[in-house]
This record gives sequence, C-alpha cells and structure tokens, in this order.
Amino acid sequence: MIEAFAAVEIIAAKRDSQVLSDAQINWVVDAYTRGVVADEQMSALAMAILLNGMNSHEISQWTHAMINSGERMNWKMLDRPTVDKHSTGGVGDKITLPLAPLVAACGGAVPQLSGRGLGHTGGTLDKMESIQGWRASLSNDEMLRVLQETGAVICAAGDSLAPADKKLYALRDVTATVEAIPLIASSIMSKKIAEGTSALVLDVKTGSGAFMSDPNKAGELARVMVQLGKDAGVITRALVTAMDVPLGLTVGNALEVAESVEVLSGGGPADVVELTLLLAREMIDAAGIKGKDPEVALMDGSAMDHWRRMVIAQGGDPDSALPVAKESHTVLSQSAGTITEMDAMKVGVSSWRLGAGRSKQGEKVQHGAGIKLHAKPGEVVKKGDPLFTLFTDESVRFERALEALDGAVIIIEGGTAQQLPLVIERII
Ligand code: URA
Repeated sequence: MIEAFAAVEIIAAKRDSQVLSDAQINWVVDAYTRGVVADEQMSALAMAILLNGMNSHEISQWTHAMINSGERMNWKMLDRPTVDKHSTGGVGDKITLPLAPLVAACGGAVPQLSGRGLGHTGGTLDKMESIQGWRASLSNDEMLRVLQETGAVICAAGDSLAPADKKLYALRDVTATVEAIPLIASSIMSKKIAEGTSALVLDVKTGSGAFMSDPNKAGELARVMVQLGKDAGVITRALVTAMDVPLGLTVGNALEVAESVEVLSGGGPADVVELTLLLAREMIDAAGIKGKDPEVALMDGSAMDHWRRMVIAQGGDPDSALPVAKESHTVLSQSAGTITEMDAMKVGVSSWRLGAGRSKQGEKVQHGAGIKLHAKPGEVVKKGDPLFTLFTDESVRFERALEALDGAVIIIEGGTAQQLPLVIERII
C-alpha cells in the first residue's frame, strides 16, 4: 500500500506550529493504529502537540479520526434516553457507583464504559470488582440486556472502541504527554461519542488530587470537551469540581464500594451525596427526562433496588461481605485545632502505596487496601484523635504509605478550612 503521507513531515509541521490538514490528521491516526507510524514518531508528534497546541478544528478532526478507528455503538433500540457521566478522575471519587443506578431509577439509561485505575486515582472497574462475582467484561449483547433490564450498566470498554486512543493513551502515559488539552479532550470525547450516549455530563476535577490542578486549565478543558460533544450531536455539559480534598471519607476499592452503598441507603458523607445529586440532576435535565427526583430515589430505596439488580445482572452478589485488608494502622493527630487543609494527592499516593492502585498496566490491586478518613477540613480535633486508618494486606507497605501522608493535613488552632467550593464552574 502506498501511504498518503510521511509521518516525519507531519511531525515537522506541528514542531513548526503549523495547522495540520484533515487529511494529515486522518492519515496519521489511522496509520498509527495500523502500526505504520512507529511509537517513537507518535511520541514526537504528541510532544509537538503538547508544546504547540491545536486549534479547535484540528482537535475535532483528531477526535473523529480516533472514533473512526473503531466501532460506534448505538442504543436507539432502548425505550428511554441514554445519558452518561465522565469524571476526569480524583481521590475517593466513587460517584459513578451510586450515580448510575440513581439515574436509572429516575428514568435514564446509563451505558457507563469505565476504566481501571493507574497511578494515584482509582478506577471504577477496580472498585466494582471488590464485589464477589461481579464481571467487568461484557459483550455488546450482554451490555444491551443489562441496560434493558436494569437501566444502568458499568463495564469495561471493549477493544474495538476507539482503539487508536488505547494505543496513544498508553504511549502518552510513558512519554510525559498526558497533560495536553487537545490530547486529553480528544481521548475522553472519542470514547464517549463512540459509546453512543445521547447526553453526557462531564465532571472535570481540579485541585491537587486532579491531573488539571489549575482551575483555569480545567475550565478550558471542560469547554473544549463540551464543544466536541455538541459538534458530534451529543448534548454535553460540564461541571468543574473540587479535588483538592479527597471526596467522602474513604479511598480504596472495597472501602469506596461500602461508602457508595451507604449513599444508596440514604446516608453517606455530605459531599458525596451533594455531588451525586448535582450530577444526577444535570444528567436528567440534559437528557430531557421528567422522572422521579433523585433525592426521592435515594430515600425511597429505588436507587438501591437498581444497584442490586445491576450488580446481580453482571454476576455479582450485592449481599456478599466486601474484602477487608489483613492489617490496619491508625494515624493520630499530633496537635489540637481545626483541620484547615487535607492534600488529596498525598492521600491518593498513600492509598496507592498501600496496594489500592497499580503502577503498571495489568498489575493486581488489593481490594481491601486504602484509607479511612476520620475527619475532614473544617473539623476540630484534639491531640491524639484519629485522623486516618490505613489498610493493607502487607504490613511492609505502611512505611512508604505513611511517608506519603507526611504534611497531608494542616491543623491550626482557631484556623478556618482552606478548600475549593465543590462546584467551581458550570459549562452548558
Ligand atoms: N482520561 C482519558 O481517558 N484520557 C486522557 O487523556 C486523560 C484522562
């Protein structure tokens, strides 16, 4: 086959800050997926994009080229509107777990294709796999059946969904090119558009525990993604939300499942409940659903009922005991006063070091590992009060996990909490 372009010319064009043509973009994404463009050439191009950027037309074309590298799913056969949520990831962010069955209980169909955790942020599939028997890999027919029967499905994206992104994301991860807005926006949106949802709400995290720590950059990313969604005919909205402090009181797979079940039972920490309800209302509104109010669905047991049906439909036992780590260690406060800050990144890294996360693709996670928080910013503690309980199956992990927590909490007598508001910006 005679190739339409030479990769080196496209790399040089972006190195020199030129605008790439549609034909160049389509070719380079396709040729990379076919293995004609080598990893080192795509790495150089990704770095040139990170340094010199792309205009909105280039980003849109790049996104479409990634969508066209695989299959595009379609849920037109369902009798209710599809609506999904995507979070850019954060520490203790278990919102998908209560949110998907909650929106299903309110009349939506939620086709939630999720990922596994890499680095300090957890992955939804790792959390769900804490539930005995639960299966992440479903065929398209199984996905449809679960969606039809329960209104929500949480499962792994198949290999045929945006394969160009799978290859490119793995490359970006090891070439310091993750943090480029054109590459992040096209990566996320290619998967969400290919997934076939008709409405989408993006939860773009900002703060120390997010990969976009600067709120202005997070806002820019959100605007680019909303535009990409709208251009592709998906009703898309975004909330930029706080990730300077961990969400809720648990970090780590099974611990987060337990907290999500508390929320579905009408309890749970206030910030998790608030964000779950905010996102549910945004999803329902975006999809034009006139169903039950989400707060009612949490309180009357219908969201819990959808959760149980969704877990059972994927082979899980919602009544089985969740894994508990073999070892625990509690960190006590060294002083008295108000907790003014709690660094989400430090807590995330500590939980990861306890075994809740993985450092390379394919590694096994410890489902019981993680951290329970006993207090959050704004709360007053006495000397000797518990701040965190760390859990792991291997006590040798405590030392490095405790090192990561060094300086994670600031306690000042008479101080006030320094934290971002839960919602920083709304983009519709
Ligand atoms: N999540 C994705 O799916 N892609 C990115 O580039 C970053 C976060």
